[in-house]
Amino acid sequence: MSACPFFQRKQPVTNTLQMKEDEDDEAQSGVNKASKGDIIYGDYLQLDKIVSSQLLQSALKGNSIHDEHLFIVTHQAYELWFKQILWELDSVREIFISGHVRDERNMLKVNTRIHRIVMIFRLLVDQFAVLETMTALDFFDFREYLSPASGFQSLQFRLLENKIGVPGNQRVPYNRRHYRDNFSSAETERLLCSEKEPSLLKLVEEWLERTPGLEMDGFNFWGKLQTNIFDGLSREKEIIELKPASEMKNEMLADLNKQHDIFVSLFDEHRHEHLQSIGERRLSYKALQGALMIYFYREEPRFQVPFQLLTSLMDIDTLMTKWRYNHVCMVHRMIGSKAGTGGSSGYHYLRSTVSDRYKVFVDLFNLATFLVPRSWVPKLNPNEHAFLYTAEYCDSSYCSSEDSD
Ligand code: HEM
Repeated sequence: MSACPFFQRKQPVTNTLQMKEDEDDEAQSGVNKASKGDIIYGDYLQLDKIVSSQLLQSALKGNSIHDEHLFIVTHQAYELWFKQILWELDSVREIFISGHVRDERNMLKVNTRIHRIVMIFRLLVDQFAVLETMTALDFFDFREYLSPASGFQSLQFRLLENKIGVPGNQRVPYNRRHYRDNFSSAETERLLCSEKEPSLLKLVEEWLERTPGLEMDGFNFWGKLQTNIFDGLSREKEIIELKPASEMKNEMLADLNKQHDIFVSLFDEHRHEHLQSIGERRLSYKALQGALMIYFYREEPRFQVPFQLLTSLMDIDTLMTKWRYNHVCMVHRMIGSKAGTGGSSGYHYLRSTVSDRYKVFVDLFNLATFLVPRSWVPKLNPNEHAFLYTAEYCDSSYCSSEDSD
């Protein structure tokens, strides 16, 4: 007889089978609901249109190439997800524009939707892997049939960039032409609109400028922080200067001087404006202060959700950069250094777009440069502490606490 206890316990096996039969009955106990006239799956999703929209140019030219189907479906899937991102983005921008964001309870909705955009971008970054199952040679077989169509003409991608806040003056020119030149007049109209409407960056900037605690006649975070930082640096300098002369001491002093310069630049509004004018900073001086305040007090209940929002905004930037990077790597593999079907230099053009020029929330990344020891962060006394627990309810003339949708 086997030593395995499983074979000795026959009874439970029979019971398991019995249970399975019961489950099967349970599985069949539903009611068929669809009857004539009701909306059914295919109609609801308009699948007839979607699944009949894969028109292979190679087949039309009498030389059907298997992988062109994958190429089309992949692009269509991307465009559908771009549409969903725009849907979420517009709803979030609307919450900001309508002023509903002043009721902090709406911040959860903003956060949820921005987080959803992040999740979609994750998917989009990975989705290139499926298309990469196509070899360069397979692509070569049908590439000639595509020209002059190109992803460069993706309206939704440009809308998305504009609505998030990619600055027009930072775009890499495309064959020395404006990116809008590639679109029809109706599309150009939509693009112009998206450039003029407040972008997510602009709206977040205005929201950050209202961060509670920035008021100079109130908590005066910025003034206190400046005092604490320069006092802290002076104390550190005194400690280092007491040390006996050595190479290490010189290095420590040089390091401290560098830190000092960094903080001088942080508190210099004119320098900020200069950096803004050359595109190295995107947020206003006040908004930058708000963002830094949220960073420092992120554990306070009132700042937890705002902190998560700032984190998600950086995620969007990171994922868009990864999207550009994965796309250009795939393009390199598929066409080497050949020109694109849209007429650009292809790989070289795309490679130049994987850069900070296209990062919208670049200031949020740079905030880490200005982090200081916890002991330098201005302390909240019990009165000041209270404002971080009180939600900012807006005056009713400007907004209501109701859902903004
Ligand atoms: C075999 C696959 C692919 C190749 C070889 C390829 C190639 C290219 C090339 C060469 C460009 C530069 C413009 C041009 O001269 O045509 C470009 C731009 C672009 N492609 Fe693709 N692409 C591929 C797949 C995709 C996919 C799946 C998408 C998803 C929507 C996409 C979206 C875009 C976008 C949005 C641009 C404009 C990027 C910018 O200007 O920043 N591409 N592509």
